[in-house]
Amino acid sequence: MCGIVGYVGDGEAARFLLEGLTRLEYRGYDSAGIAVYDGEKIRIEKSVGRLSELKKKIAGDMPKGVCGIGHTRWATHGRPSDTNSHPHADCAGDFVVAHNGIIENYMTLKEKLIEKGHRFVSETDTEVLPHLLEEVYDGDFESSVRKVVTMIEGSYSLVFMSRRDPGVLICTKQDNPLIIGLGSGENFIASDIPAIINHTRRTYIMSDGEIAVVKKDSVWVTNNQGEPVTKKVFEVNWNAEAAEKGGYEHFMLKEIHEQPKAVRATLSSRFAKDGSSVVFDELKWNVDFLKSIDRIFIVACGTAYHAGLVGKYYIEKMARIPVECDIASEFRYRSPIVDDRTLTIVVSQSGETIDTLAALKEAKRLGSRTLAVTNVVGSSIARDADQVVYTWAGPEIAVASTKAYTTQLIVMLLIAIYMAELKKSMPEARIRELIEGAKNIPAQISETLEDTEPIKTFAKRYGFNEDVFFIGRSLDYDVALEGALKLKEISYIHAEAYAAGELKHGTLALVKEGIPVIALATQRSVYEKTLSNIKEVKARDAIVIGIAEKGDEELSKYADHVIYVPEADELLIPLLAVVPLQLLAYYAALTRGCDVDKPRNLAKSVTVE
Ligand code: M6R
Repeated sequence: MCGIVGYVGDGEAARFLLEGLTRLEYRGYDSAGIAVYDGEKIRIEKSVGRLSELKKKIAGDMPKGVCGIGHTRWATHGRPSDTNSHPHADCAGDFVVAHNGIIENYMTLKEKLIEKGHRFVSETDTEVLPHLLEEVYDGDFESSVRKVVTMIEGSYSLVFMSRRDPGVLICTKQDNPLIIGLGSGENFIASDIPAIINHTRRTYIMSDGEIAVVKKDSVWVTNNQGEPVTKKVFEVNWNAEAAEKGGYEHFMLKEIHEQPKAVRATLSSRFAKDGSSVVFDELKWNVDFLKSIDRIFIVACGTAYHAGLVGKYYIEKMARIPVECDIASEFRYRSPIVDDRTLTIVVSQSGETIDTLAALKEAKRLGSRTLAVTNVVGSSIARDADQVVYTWAGPEIAVASTKAYTTQLIVMLLIAIYMAELKKSMPEARIRELIEGAKNIPAQISETLEDTEPIKTFAKRYGFNEDVFFIGRSLDYDVALEGALKLKEISYIHAEAYAAGELKHGTLALVKEGIPVIALATQRSVYEKTLSNIKEVKARDAIVIGIAEKGDEELSKYADHVIYVPEADELLIPLLAVVPLQLLAYYAALTRGCDVDKPRNLAKSVTVE
């Protein structure tokens, strides 16, 4: 995830900027840059790769000055490169901007600015910002930034610096974190607390729409109407390690809570203005392309494979194209029937998983068209596939995948709707219904995260059981597989997921008194069937924890406990039902004293076979 820092005071700005960015390195990034006003001009230095590359580049010739901004970039628009790194400048080099997030309407703004003669050098959405400022600047830095903010749509935290207004930084935010560190004779700006913790613990936490004018001895904050805001000082009492985790005990918990934001970012810019259809600028497929495909393979590993299973269900249901979902390490060695009428979709958070990469290469060798769904811009899989759709989850640090999964599900849903639109295989009204439902998902995930107490209690109560079963039908089964994987990988409890209808074909023999069975019953079309499977395990004295939609009054009659998730479309509910399972795994691991973020024997990115 990108990181922002800003400094204004009497000290050497570059020194603080580099130190602050170093403290944000844990968030993941692919390039870095700083801009410092030296009393005459703004000097910008950027470099792709680690911060050490930037430090090497300017060693012996550090930009001099007492006011500056810096950034570590996690690429979204445009590959990682020196040019695409932030800060970005306008044509004259008078204004520079560092940005986290996404400017959704940047293409339209960019076209207009180019018409007016502005010259763009990068592929980023961010670069429109300094050019917009150049365009509207009327001598009043603050009101000009305010104008720029009214022109942009999206989610962002921004810091602006102007050569014409020395000693002033202006920052603002929308749906992205931003804080101001209050020093004495110096002030700091950062996207995250660790960047400033060595300098001050007194902060202002910026709210959406607020604009702050930051000078060395003052901070002036106004709301989006321009009215002054009296901010309360927030004293940070976390240590540096806790600050990196945003106050959460583990990265996994932080990432579970980041899901609403990650899903919102992944959905952004992917709907037509009137909400009637899905837009994929990166694909630009047409009906002939779809007609030329007679089968789809979705290939991935682990959690990404589980997202692929949901993707198979979506595409078959909506676009009526046969889909096979396969584990990458199987696919690559089993002579799959693939030719030039096949589309192979590989799914990978890291974009570096060796089996998935090899499967992609094999599919290409056999003549398949290929599409990558990945979270890392410029990763090997992104580079190798014919086309790429990115999830915008931001870096995932915990080994256990959480926000990557929910964003992969959203991308799968969007791809399926997009195909259905092209093929006209689903009524328009149903498409609108799903789009509306998808837009609600971030808020509904937040709602699911509101009350975690019952889940903590179950985890404590059942956390030491050696076996746990997960059951469900249809999409509930796919989510059950992910729930079981989460539990086993971080709590080391033996957990297995079964299609509920399969129980009586063997597994029921294992069900005995006291065995916890997590039963997902969110799929209305198979609800009664699932209920009878729940009765089967209950009759063997299992302890049933049900996952159901709010308003379900039936399940509690048969289950020992029920965790409710908000009501949603049957196709969308996996995005909600998985959340309590992630939390259950997390709290079970905690109860058992496991190393949640770094489970034994596992690595975040599996780059060896
Ligand atoms: O980076 P990828 O999505 O390709 O990784 C695939 C799996 O290794 C990964 O999902 C793994 O299963 C996770 N640890 C699960 O939480």
